[in-house]
Amino acid sequence: MAVAKFPDFAQPEVHDYNVERVRADFPILHQKVHGHPLVYLDNAATTQKPRQVIDAITHYYEHDNANIHRGVHTLSQRATDEYEHARRTAQEFLGAEDCREIIFVRSTTEAINLVAQTYGRQNLKPGDEVLITAMEHHSDIVPWQMICEEKQAKLRVAPINEAGELILEDFERLLTSKTKLVAIAHLSNALGTVNPVRRFVEMAHAKNIPVMVDGAQAVARLPVNVRELDCDFYAFSGHKIYGPTGIGVLYGKLALLEAMPPYQGGGDMISSVAFERTVYNKVPHKFEAGTPDISGPIGLKAALDYVTRLGIENIERHENELLEYATKRVSALPGIRLIGTAKNKAGVLSFVMEGVHPHDIGTILDQEGIAIRTGHHCAQPVMERYGIPATARASFGLYNTREEIDALVSGIKKVQEVFG
Ligand code: ALA
Repeated sequence: MAVAKFPDFAQPEVHDYNVERVRADFPILHQKVHGHPLVYLDNAATTQKPRQVIDAITHYYEHDNANIHRGVHTLSQRATDEYEHARRTAQEFLGAEDCREIIFVRSTTEAINLVAQTYGRQNLKPGDEVLITAMEHHSDIVPWQMICEEKQAKLRVAPINEAGELILEDFERLLTSKTKLVAIAHLSNALGTVNPVRRFVEMAHAKNIPVMVDGAQAVARLPVNVRELDCDFYAFSGHKIYGPTGIGVLYGKLALLEAMPPYQGGGDMISSVAFERTVYNKVPHKFEAGTPDISGPIGLKAALDYVTRLGIENIERHENELLEYATKRVSALPGIRLIGTAKNKAGVLSFVMEGVHPHDIGTILDQEGIAIRTGHHCAQPVMERYGIPATARASFGLYNTREEIDALVSGIKKVQEVFG
């Protein structure tokens, strides 16, 4: 059998965290926008891709493209090997015990929908409850609302305090014999709060309640080990960790995945089909119907290798320094109110400015070449909690610099000048 060669795309050698060297890997960063050097501070929405990821995808399409799990020919075997190698990389990255616990999906959103439509549909009865939190992204609210409505179950919401932290006592009080699942963000995209997931998992498991973690914002910023967290499901998207869009990962404990019905029907998710009866494939294939995104996992693998080579602890330290510096500088400006001031934060600085709509902040900053996100960040209940329609949000990545934060601060001052 042909053994696939996995080319080495010259991953960076990291001794000290050298942000200029890191930036050299990201072609997109080296451009001007409206005559100014691009300052990309919208990493919570999506991250840029290093050359290593772009090269891995190009290499796949130039050399190995074929359908997987189906062909005896060489290209099909190579493509299959690379796809399954990516699964093992994702397994190692998350610290999962078994590569069958890694399901490739389109995104965090699809992962949550998968669990809601399979585990949720199988286990919820009228009167049961799903517990989420007040800081969830719409993708960790709506799939639960949909299945709760269908099963006549109830969606309960654990509140947050003014700083944007979950209130532990309230969370614990809401865990009852009716609770069938807890779904919680590891890191809030709108507030930057890092939740003590391990603690929540312990509380839920003490009552035999499984926990799903939305790791979309966390994986690129914090070390994640699903065995240490002991969560039952964990989801993340490739594009938020320097990989391609359209690919994500659902981790699930093997016994849970094996007991769950399939999500979608089609090729590859079956072991045999007859009109009278179909026998489903084993996990993970049971949940990967049809020809999947093949280049996606290959690009994702390159991204996970890249992050691993840099060291997630180094990235975490680098981003924490940036967040601390940005928080100090931005909060010192007149008329600024930070939204989300939790003790344990990462990567995200949300703020509002007296008398100025966040969209105007974003538009003026864009004229200075600075990309931030403005709006409700797909977290309208969070905005409602603070009585605001939207925030301006700067979010940091492994390639950002202190100089870029200085540019952000100058840009905000310009907004203040324009609005008097
Ligand atoms: N969830 C993404 C964000 O926070 C799109 O911007």
